[in-house]
Amino acid sequence: MTGTFTNAPAEGFTPGGPARPDSRPAVSASGVSKIYGAGDAAVHALRGVTVGFARGAFTAIMGPSGSGKSTLMHCLAGLDVVSKGSVVLGDIEITGLDDRRLTLLRRERVGFVFQAFNLLPTLTAEQNILLAVELAGGKVDRSWFDHVIEVLGLRDRLKHRPSELSGGQQQRVACARALVSRPEVIFADEPTGNLDSRSGAEVLGFLRASVREMGQTIIMVTHDPVAASYADRVVFLRDGEVVSELAGPTPDRVLDELKRLGA
Ligand SMILES: Nc1ncnc2c1ncn2[C@@H]1O[C@H](COP(=O)(O)OP(=O)(O)OP(=O)(O)O)[C@@H](O)[C@H]1O
Ligand SMILES: [Mg+2]
Repeated sequence: MTGTFTNAPAEGFTPGGPARPDSRPAVSASGVSKIYGAGDAAVHALRGVTVGFARGAFTAIMGPSGSGKSTLMHCLAGLDVVSKGSVVLGDIEITGLDDRRLTLLRRERVGFVFQAFNLLPTLTAEQNILLAVELAGGKVDRSWFDHVIEVLGLRDRLKHRPSELSGGQQQRVACARALVSRPEVIFADEPTGNLDSRSGAEVLGFLRASVREMGQTIIMVTHDPVAASYADRVVFLRDGEVVSELAGPTPDRVLDELKRLGA
């Protein structure tokens, strides 16, 4: 077993602390606008968003329903194209890449954890974790795999199928799958939305540990102030714009800010 971390958010964690965030952002958006539809039916989902996400840091994105959180995440991850502005992921300007290159970029540089765990039911936990790397034609680094499994506490669950695992364990498998290819960034959209609070805390603790102990960069959309408090920083959106942010968030401070924004 691991025993080197707890499921609680890191006390006193600050950027520049153990995870040593790099000064270059892992992902950044400059003047990003996203318009769905045209004419009278046009929806301005993002209106000139400029924001950077530090390497080796855990950032939460929050805001009222419809404020553009998922749209921003999709544009940052190359799942959707921007209408205006630019997105840089690692050292690559992704704006203007064609579908094929975007698919490759996602496979090679990005990990995803969604609300629904998206595990394949007929494969074991281990096969699910390794599938993405194998599909991308990559070689699995066994010592890294072992480390991820250790940190996520999955050693004795590897031969189980998803139906034989709890919700929290399934989401930990999904996290391992995202971590094992050492992506530039992991994007998580409501990763604890389908979990009870204990399993949710467990998964958030493991995400936190992967930032602290592996230097992973994580961007997570959440509605939950407690989930957001595991992050190093919270970015708030309203009506498609970044309106404020909090460093070293606590659930109370996040809640106050959400109230102020009318969420
Ligand atoms: N494919 C689409 N076509 C048209 N409009 C869209 C599309 N996707 C999102 N929108 C609109 O863009 C705006 C932002 O949506 P988005 O899904 O980013 O919000 P959100 O902050 O993630 O909300 P929630 O908290 O409810 O998930 C909303 O007004 C939404 O209706
Ligand atoms: Mg959303």
